[in-house]
Amino acid sequence: MQIQSTNQPINQSTTILGIESSCDETAAAVCRDGRILSNFIAGQSVHEQYGGVVPELASRAHMQNIVPVVDTALKQAGVALTDISAVAFTQAPGLIGALLVGSQFAKSLSLSLNIPLIAVHHMQAHVLANLIQDNKPAFPFLCLTVSGGHTQIVLCESPLQLKIIGQTIDDAAGEAFDKSAKLLGLPYPGGPLIDKYAQTGNPKRFTFAEPQLPGLDFSFSGVKTSILYFLQAETKKNPHFIEENLADICASVQERIISILISKLKKAAAQTGIRNICMAGGVSANSGLRKALTETGLQQGWQVFIPAFEYCTDNAAMIAITGYYKLLAAQTTDLSIGASAKSEW
Ligand code: KG4
Ligand code: ZN
Repeated sequence: MQIQSTNQPINQSTTILGIESSCDETAAAVCRDGRILSNFIAGQSVHEQYGGVVPELASRAHMQNIVPVVDTALKQAGVALTDISAVAFTQAPGLIGALLVGSQFAKSLSLSLNIPLIAVHHMQAHVLANLIQDNKPAFPFLCLTVSGGHTQIVLCESPLQLKIIGQTIDDAAGEAFDKSAKLLGLPYPGGPLIDKYAQTGNPKRFTFAEPQLPGLDFSFSGVKTSILYFLQAETKKNPHFIEENLADICASVQERIISILISKLKKAAAQTGIRNICMAGGVSANSGLRKALTETGLQQGWQVFIPAFEYCTDNAAMIAITGYYKLLAAQTTDLSIGASAKSEW
């Protein structure tokens, strides 16, 4: 059954409610005519003691959070449920039980309010987070999308014409951060902690393996192994090696991950001739990477765009803005759509 809006007069503003529940953040946001009015996120501390996200606990927390989170996003935006023109939700990829909570909630709203339903791909939404700010990149642009599960270089011809031209063949950049942090005894997610300790460390103190992968694809598993062997050898000589050198190790690990990302991005820009360069995803919150991209942009003559921190890590504003562009293109869906853990576009 195709749900169509019957209660929106033509020329009225378009107000999208976005819902994100793909992993361990329950988030809702409201976007009106391409501008974000609210962006509310409830994290889930229940996973901290397990060193990673526990899927079943994530689903349960989403069920507890979804109603108050949507309610708060609407209130912060000053919008009533009846003002919403369409509801957008993360349909894929992610933890299936977590996705089901958001998708079922969005479908129920679409049905009860008789408004269009819009299925959004989480990784496309990360890219379109670059269209939230006033200073938007012109098309075509390249986007380095770096998250906990993905590392991609995406060529964007228009809001809905996105093509992956490079991606990781093994671990994602976020996993490289998190797994390195785990080896250092830091809690999950370790990426932000490596960022924090790296700020007072020497990035040139230690060097880790650099993958020699041709083309635009990435590999991070060799770096992780190189860090593991390095730590094993050093802690054998000095059991306090990690605590005594934590800042320098973090800075050096971060330096290697950043150099891998930036060198592929340079290659992609040279191959495509595109000079509008964006970044997206949780790892784009990394202060070293933000600085490196800005400096590389100056050297290379690129126009660089980096979303505000709140739009880098998982959020629903990116789902709402993607929903807005999909609604403009009449890309709505019907209630038979299911959630999908898979990441194919
Ligand atoms: O995009 P995101 O919030 O969720 C996914 O879609 O995966 O990305 C989460 C990833 C985690 O691996 C986390 O450690 C990493 O982003 N991350 C960071 C930083 N903030 C989040 N990595 C390095 N430095 C940060 N400041
Ligand atoms: Zn994400």
